Order: sequence, then C-alpha cells, then structure tokens
Amino acid sequence: MPSTLTIAIDGPAGAGKGTLARRLADYYHLPHLDTGLTYRAVAQMLLAKGWPLGDAPHAVEAAQMVDLGRLDKATLSAHAVGEAASKVAVIAEVRKVLVDKQRAFARQPGGAVLDGRDIGTVVCPDAAVKLYVTASAEVRARRRLAEIEAKDGTGDFATILADILRRDERDMGRADSPLKPAADAHLLDTSEMSIEAAFLAARAIVDDAMAKRDAI
Ligand code: DC
Repeated sequence: MPSTLTIAIDGPAGAGKGTLARRLADYYHLPHLDTGLTYRAVAQMLLAKGWPLGDAPHAVEAAQMVDLGRLDKATLSAHAVGEAASKVAVIAEVRKVLVDKQRAFARQPGGAVLDGRDIGTVVCPDAAVKLYVTASAEVRARRRLAEIEAKDGTGDFATILADILRRDERDMGRADSPLKPAADAHLLDTSEMSIEAAFLAARAIVDDAMAKRDAI
C-alpha cells in the first residue's frame, strides 16, 4: 500500500505558511487546503448578508454551506475578510462544522497538506509532519507592506503592525483551538529566511520525518 503523507502547517498571519504549504504540496504531489479560506468564506457570507459576525446560528448555517471545491481565493483574500474571519473563528460551533470538512479533505488516500492555525493540534493531530511557521511581528508587517506596495498600493507600517498584533492576540487568545504549536511540531522561524531558504528547511524536516518513519 502506498504510504500516506499528511503535512500540518500552522502559524500566525503573514508568517509565510501559505506559500510554504503550496510549495510543499507541489513538490510532494499532494493536494493542498488553505483552511483560512474556509473561515474567510463564512465571514464573507455574513458580510454579504449584513449579518453580525457574532451571529452564531447564521454563521453555522454559512459554515455548512462552505464547499471546499469552490473557495475563490481572489475574492476571499481581501484584508477586511481576513479580519472578519478571525472574528467568526472564535465561534466553537462554526469551528466544529469546518473542522469536519477539513478532516474529510485530509483523509485523501495519499495524504494532503493543510495550513491554518489548529491543524497540528486539532484537525490532524496524527499528521506525519507538523510545522509551526513563525516570524517576528515586525518582519510580518514589513512583508505585508511590501506586498501591498508591489500591487501599487500604499500602506502605513504602524497600522499594519497594529493589525497583525491584534489578529495574533485574537487567534492565540481564543478559548477554542487557539493558535499554538503542537507539542511535536517543528518550529520554523522565517524572520531571517528567504522563501527559498524556508522551503529547503521545511523539505529537510519532511524528508527526515519520512526517512525515520520508513525505517520503523
Ligand atoms: O490564514 P488566514 O489569514 O486566511 O486566516 C483567517 C482567519 O481564520 C484567522 O485569523 C483565524 C481563522 N483561522 C482559524 O481560526 N483556524 C484555521 N485553521 C485557519 C484560519
């Protein structure tokens, strides 16, 4: 039977985990799910209907309607949708519905790469490899500003940094499934790393974990 490789990637907003997850998925030929998009989809439905972000019954209804095959990254990537997603993500019933869908995705025959905030701790606690990707808040703010400027936009460093710190506080401080490294996660601090260096470091961790597993 071919072996299954599940890679769980967690970390705060802007640490580079999405880019890393996509590159690892390409390299190991695995399907990839950005679980942040599922929370964003719920937030976007609530925003579109004008319902409050703390409206649990409507948020659960929206979560049930999320179709993993129809997550439109382009419309879901707006900054305001990310902020709203962080607010709906504190609702335990919403998390339950989305986690079920994420687990179904993770159960694919050859495995999968999932990235988010609670993948190694809650969604895939048995993943073969867990990475906790982080970077200092200042570095993450600088990267975000560079991204905005590359798209011809303008931004203010202090405002972006304050946004990032607020988001960290909400994601790490919530009662249900807060963002934290799993006990067996490999920590990858990308503050001083290029994307390429982070990818190579992550690959070395995955290859090493697979070699150890295959040796058993
Ligand atoms: O990764 P992202 O910025 O797209 O995520 C948006 C929000 O969704 C994030 O601030 C918290 C929430 N989220 C979560 O609670 N659990 C996940 N597994 C993924 C995202």
